[in-house]
Amino acid sequence: MSKLFLVTGGAGFIGSHMVDALLAKGHAVRVLDNLSMGNRSNLPADNPRLQFIEGDVADAACVSAAVEGCDAVVHLAAVASVQASVDDPVSTHQSNFVGTLNICEAMREHRVKRVVFASSAAVYGNNGAGQPIDENTAKSPLTPYASDKLSSEYYLDFYRRQHGLEPAVFRFFNIFGPRQDPSSPYSGVISIFTQRAQQGLPISVFGDGEQTRDFFFVADLIELLQQGLFTEQVVSDAVNVGWNQATSLKQLLEAIGELFGGLPAVTYLEPRAGDIRHSRANNDRLKQAYRMPQETPLKEGLRQLLGLAG
Ligand code: NAD
Ligand code: UD1
Repeated sequence: MSKLFLVTGGAGFIGSHMVDALLAKGHAVRVLDNLSMGNRSNLPADNPRLQFIEGDVADAACVSAAVEGCDAVVHLAAVASVQASVDDPVSTHQSNFVGTLNICEAMREHRVKRVVFASSAAVYGNNGAGQPIDENTAKSPLTPYASDKLSSEYYLDFYRRQHGLEPAVFRFFNIFGPRQDPSSPYSGVISIFTQRAQQGLPISVFGDGEQTRDFFFVADLIELLQQGLFTEQVVSDAVNVGWNQATSLKQLLEAIGELFGGLPAVTYLEPRAGDIRHSRANNDRLKQAYRMPQETPLKEGLRQLLGLAG
């Protein structure tokens, strides 16, 4: 049966892939996005099942109107850059925390139950110490971004207990793929490195390049988010999304260099404030709770991102 879903942040990188997947299944989708990072061109121009609202999740009235009549919500709108939150905690808090609270209230008002929420590995801070991080690891938010994500989780859990909301909370590790916007210095590292390699421009590494991330291809994530949206019984605890694989930035550069047959100059600069050293997911809970997608390995994901055949 066809349903109506609200996707906040639907004009962005992950959101636009989610919108495509829901439309492809025959559903109707309403997108709420303030276009601060997202772009209307990430969405189909002429699908009658797609509604677009240009608005802010920090605006409670706008969120209430967007939630009304929906069967469920995928809440992805946020300032995704950790560094942006360090530079501007007040403004990013509006998007990253107040936005979530507005979603909770609007869902309560309109009796909508299911919400898929994009939390982050950032909530663990440096507590992983290079080992795979499971969900019970102590939380140690080092930045306003991480604090807002963790507070959002707590509020979603409050609305679950108090008002019967059904949050499916995913702690994404590092997602990459087509449509990740490389245009800001705060953009995801893979989008920046691949674009600069493509254009032959010098690459800056913050720190020694030995920091590691658990990179996860966007199409694989979308399979999981749809399960979170459609599953009968949602797992009430937050679930890590990663492959339990650590790739250092140096290894990432090597992989990109192989695809391009070389790299532009690489400069090593001071590490960023609040930057996590090692981030790698223990994904046991994910495997128990959800059907795992077939893994798109890093190199294959890079090929797809760059539009290279094979
Ligand atoms: P993105 O910047 O491409 O998408 C975020 C979208 O939200 C953009 O379209 C932006 O315009 C919109 N937005 C921002 N503030 C808004 C506001 N106040 N009101 C309405 N719309 C607003 O980033 P993304 O990588 O697609 O991130 C999607 C979600 O996933 C975010 O919540 C992010 O924190 C989370 N996340 C991303 C990653 C990753 O590696 N990309 C990892 C962990 C969590
Ligand atoms: C990313 C996501 C964040 C998410 C988190 C979960 C983005 C923009 N950020 O944060 O939303 O919650 O994963 O794990 O999608 N770097 C460079 N040079 C550059 C850019 C980055 O060296 O030009 C370094 C950074 O200092 C960092 C690493 O690359 O050490 C990854 O940075 P980034 O892609 O911004 O991601 P995270 O900070 O891990």
